[in-house]
Amino acid sequence: MNLELKGRAALVTGGTKGIGRDIVEALVQEGAHVSVTARGSEGLAKIAKDFPDANIHTISADATKQTEINFALESVIKTFGKLDILVNNVGGAGNFGNLNDLTESDWYYAFDLNVLSLVHFVRASEEHLRKSNCARIINISSISGVQPGRFNPHYTITKAATINLSKYLSNYFVKDNILVNVICPGPVHSESWDENIRRLAAERGLSFEDARLKIEQEEALKIPLGRIGEGSDVASLVAYLASDKASWITGSCFHVNGGKLKTV
Ligand SMILES: NC(=O)c1ccc[n+]([C@@H]2O[C@H](COP(=O)([O-])OP(=O)(O)OC[C@H]3O[C@@H](n4cnc5c(N)ncnc54)[C@H](OP(=O)(O)O)[C@@H]3O)[C@@H](O)[C@H]2O)c1
Repeated sequence: MNLELKGRAALVTGGTKGIGRDIVEALVQEGAHVSVTARGSEGLAKIAKDFPDANIHTISADATKQTEINFALESVIKTFGKLDILVNNVGGAGNFGNLNDLTESDWYYAFDLNVLSLVHFVRASEEHLRKSNCARIINISSISGVQPGRFNPHYTITKAATINLSKYLSNYFVKDNILVNVICPGPVHSESWDENIRRLAAERGLSFEDARLKIEQEEALKIPLGRIGEGSDVASLVAYLASDKASWITGSCFHVNGGKLKTV
């Protein structure tokens, strides 16, 4: 693709692993300068090393801490002088569980990580995005935000909130020509996917590799296109939404799940 993102400044939260890492790669390939946040210094060092010719700026910041988010934005502006594209990718479940397994702090943590982090990143970015003539906010929710299962309700309700918040933000920022969209991936190979396999391997008394084989076969049967997704399946849409080719798209929710979502 030639999406002409050369010279645009992007920030990808949780960009060192999984889907976030592939989003960084897609934006870099299109010529963007990319800032990446995460907590782990190893992951941050690795992403800079993986793309030696790219203009990548790494920042250690916990997405559940507002002061660290504000610092991250200061660092982005100091380095690139502007921000055009904010990708709110960071998210997750924290602890896994059912209604009666989850503690009150599990529910609060999911809200902090999946909803408040997005609020804080947007608030810290808005004055910079307003100065851009190609501003984008792209949020990563989940298929489970529209189609919850029987597990992890703290995660699925906060991912539903991400979708609703994205629509609100698209309305709020339309006067500034900041376009806001949300993507809901289905199951995708990532660090969190592996964590899920590890948990199920322990539950079923299987080795990690045996569990992976079995669980991926079971999961693929629920997906009409017959496979688990890759981060790149999501990342190419992010790059497109970030580009001028998507300049008449805002307030939209995109489903990327191999057909797993049971409605249109
Ligand atoms: N993978 C899937 O199947 C799937 C499906 C639907 C939706 N999603 C959504 O897609 C997004 C990415 O998921 P993923 O599975 O690719 O994630 P992942 O592989 O678990 O990677 C998470 C990334 O976020 C960072 N991170 C985690 N907690 C953080 C925190 N508190 N503060 C700052 N950074 C933090 C991690 O680095 P550090 O640990 O070093 O901080 C890492 O870079 C999430 O919003 C997730 O809900 C994923």
